[in-house]
This record gives sequence, structure tokens and C-alpha cells, in this order.
Amino acid sequence: MMRTALKLVLAIGTVVVLVIGGFTAYIAWSFANASISTVGEVEFARPLAIPPLAKSTVDAAGVRTFDLAMQAGATDLGRGEPTPTWGFNGAFLGPTLRATRGEQVKVNITNGIDETSTVHWHGMHLPAGMDGGPHQPIAPGANWSPQWTIDQPAASLWYHPHPHGETAKHVYRGLAGMFILDDANEVALPKTYGVDDFPIMVQDKAFDGSKLDDRAGLFQSTGILGDTVLVNGTPGPFLDVTSERVRLRVVNGSNARVYRFHFDDNRPYAVVASDGGLLPAPVETNELLLSPGERAEIVVDVRPGERTVLQSTPPTGDSNRFTGASDRLDILELRGAQTLTASPVVPATLAPAPDLADDTVGATRNVSLGGSNTNFGKMDLERVDIVSTLDTTETWNVTNADGQVHNFHIHDVQFQVIRYAGGPPPAVLAGWKDTILIPQGETVELRMRFTDFADASSPYMFHCHLLRHEDQGLMGQFVVARPGEKVGAIDVPDHDGDDHAAAEVSTGHAH
Ligand code: C2O
Ligand code: CU
Repeated sequence: MMRTALKLVLAIGTVVVLVIGGFTAYIAWSFANASISTVGEVEFARPLAIPPLAKSTVDAAGVRTFDLAMQAGATDLGRGEPTPTWGFNGAFLGPTLRATRGEQVKVNITNGIDETSTVHWHGMHLPAGMDGGPHQPIAPGANWSPQWTIDQPAASLWYHPHPHGETAKHVYRGLAGMFILDDANEVALPKTYGVDDFPIMVQDKAFDGSKLDDRAGLFQSTGILGDTVLVNGTPGPFLDVTSERVRLRVVNGSNARVYRFHFDDNRPYAVVASDGGLLPAPVETNELLLSPGERAEIVVDVRPGERTVLQSTPPTGDSNRFTGASDRLDILELRGAQTLTASPVVPATLAPAPDLADDTVGATRNVSLGGSNTNFGKMDLERVDIVSTLDTTETWNVTNADGQVHNFHIHDVQFQVIRYAGGPPPAVLAGWKDTILIPQGETVELRMRFTDFADASSPYMFHCHLLRHEDQGLMGQFVVARPGEKVGAIDVPDHDGDDHAAAEVSTGHAH
């Protein structure tokens, strides 16, 4: 009896020691592997892929129509064998859509993958029913043809899926593309697509063999962080530059990674546009932070025959290994040709500044982001958190309430940044924005005006654009209503057949 009991105690003890030892080793391993550096290790052996401009037709009524087919395929991402991926009109990523202010556009989308998805026009001002959020699902084999009129300044927007709880996976697999808008404001900047004006979609990927690995590590609360950076789907890309200046339309299309873009020789460059279009004036800098979903257009001077590498390195002082903030990454090599064509000098003024600072504020909203919910709760397709009134200006105070990395994105509108983390916004945030990084514990004061589209039964989204956070519920819904109008029945797509639910309206948060 005694001997059996003793054996049992010893056996349990051994198991406990092994488990603790294993866990300690796992923590040590995670920590050692949490910080990535690829500086000097990337070969830059492949020419940067330039997504084609999407073909379109214009009918007698002036409607410009594009076709986008979501499909599964396999792509050479430098893993020896092809990686299973998803794309639009191809195996990975999608073509660049382009349209001009005032034009009516229509996009015929077909879903050729085996999961329900959506296509959202990130940064676009358009009716909620055309927005492509979780309320506009496209089942496998089905199609959806949203149509709207482009009515906002020239900008570098992008499109990507937004299915309820599955956005991270769909974007990570490769469903993303750019949507460039033009307008009549002619500014002397490089503007020939693929010649001196380039889309630069930056996405980090982790691999398991040749497969994309979308399992985030235990300590990666931000979601997946990869050690391979693709630009327009190209691993280790170089770009042959043939003009004195190039315009790079940089999209952070990553699920979780925040980049601090700079060049290996620390050269200054001009930031000329942010999410919603041209800045009031160019901002000369040698580093720029972009969080997931944000865009910036930069103009870089290149000398004949030289090479320079676009990199990302940690913001000084930030040492959180598990958020990717201490990673150092080689991204794209620019190679100047021996002779370069002349480029325009970047003009000193670019576009009118946002003008909401002196507007009468109709409502002030406090939104806080923490864990996997907002202060309104976890994302609920049936709950409307904020009812905004058509043609009014609002202030949204958005707080990063926990120790994690969060940013904030709102659909339909572009906002003006009034205060950033207790001070006036830095010059790179002086233009129209739709996505903004919020430092831990800080608040940003944003001002936006809800115009044109009232639909009290069709919600728009606001959320953190770290896609794992969004999927976990860090998202809320707002509608734009006519004065006095009540929120209607929200058409909630669900999977049990009952497709109408009475909307619940959050109370007590607006004032
Ligand atoms: Cu880029 Cu709601 O998304
Ligand atoms: Cu977040």
C-alpha cells in the first residue's frame, strides 16, 4: 500500500516537473523568437509585382463597371513550392481599381471561394448598403453588384473582405487590392501608374512550410506577426526606378503589424497624402508610422545608379517584443537607373486642409477600445451603438484603454484629428483620415461630418483594424439617420434562416 502511494506521488511529481519545465522552455523559446530581424538578410532578387489596373467598361449612362472574381489558387511566395492563396481575378491579391470623382461606379463581384465573404471599400464615402461590411455577405457561388457615385477627393483607398468574425483569415489568404481615386485638383506629383507612381501593399506573412500560417503565438495578443514581408505579393522585391522621384502609395495591408518606414541611409522623403487624400502641405521626414489599414503616399528622391532599402525598425523607446514593435525588417530595394527622367518638384501646397475644427458639434461620443470589446460591448450585428444625424458634425473621443496595440477605423467618413494623445496632431495627421493608431492609454479627438447617405436600418462599422481584435469583437455599429428618425429593423444576415431582427439601440454612451 505504502509503496503504491509513494510511487503515485513520485509519478505526479515527475509530471508536474515536466509540465513546468516544458512551459518554462516554451516561454523562453517564445521570447527568443518574439523579436525578428531580417535586416541585411533579404536578397531582393525579384522584381516588384505591379498589380494591373482593373479593366472597366463605361455604359451609355456613364456607369463605369468593373468585374472582381474571388478565387482560390496557388502562388509562388518563395517557399520552394506554391502556397495556397486567395485572390481577385487571380491567385493572390487583386487588380487596382481606379475612378474619378463624380463618376458612377459599379463592381460585379462573384464569390468563387468556398466560404461566405464580403468586399468592403475601405475609406470610401458611400451608402451603407454598398459598403460591403458584414451585412452584405456573398455566399459561395453568389454575386453582388454594389453601385455608387465617387464623391470625395483623390485618394489611395483599398478593398478587402469584411465577413463577420472571419476578416483576418480572408485578408491573410490574399484578398486585398487598391482603389485609387482621382479628382480635378491637378497637383504636380509623379502620376504615371507603374512608371513613377506605384502601389506598395505591405503585408507580413508567417509560413508553415509552404502554407500561410495564421495561428498567432500564445503571447501575440495582436494577432499573427510574420517574418516574411511581401510587397504587392512579392517576397524580397526590388524596384527599378527610372525617374528622379517616385511616388509610393503605401498601404499597410497587414493583419497586425505596425511599421515604422524609413530608408537604410535615413534619407528624408516627402509625405504627400494620408488615408483620405493629399495633405495640406508635404511633410518632410525620415520615418513614418503606419498601422494596419492606414495609407500614406510618399515621394522619394533617387540618384542615378544608387540603391536604397525601405525598412521598418522599432520606434525608439518601444520594446514590446510580442507586438512586433522591436522587429527590424528589410522591405523593398529601390534601384536607380543610370539615367533618370526628370520629375516635378513636390509643390509646397497640395490640397485644402480639413475644415471641421470650427463646426458646431452636434454630439460627442466616447468610444473606448480594450480587450476584445468597445465600451458598448462585443460586436453584435443586431445592436446599433451610435445613431448619428444626417448633416451634423460629431466629436468622437476614442481611447486605447488597455496595454495592447489598437487603432481605430470608421466607415463612410473621413475624420479630422483635433487632438492626438494630449497634444495637437503631428503634421502627418493634418489631412483627412479614416484609420488612426492610438498609443496605449491615450485618447484621440476626432471630428467628422455625416453627409449624403441616411439609412436608419443599415449600419456602418467602427472598429480596431488589428484584424484579430476586430474578429474577436472590438467593433461597433452606427447608423446615419434623418433628424428624429428611429432606427429601423436591421437586416441581419444569419445562418439559421431568420433574417430579420429588431435592432437594439445602446443607450447611455452618447451625450
Ligand atoms: Cu478596412 Cu472595417 O475595414
Ligand atoms: Cu486592437
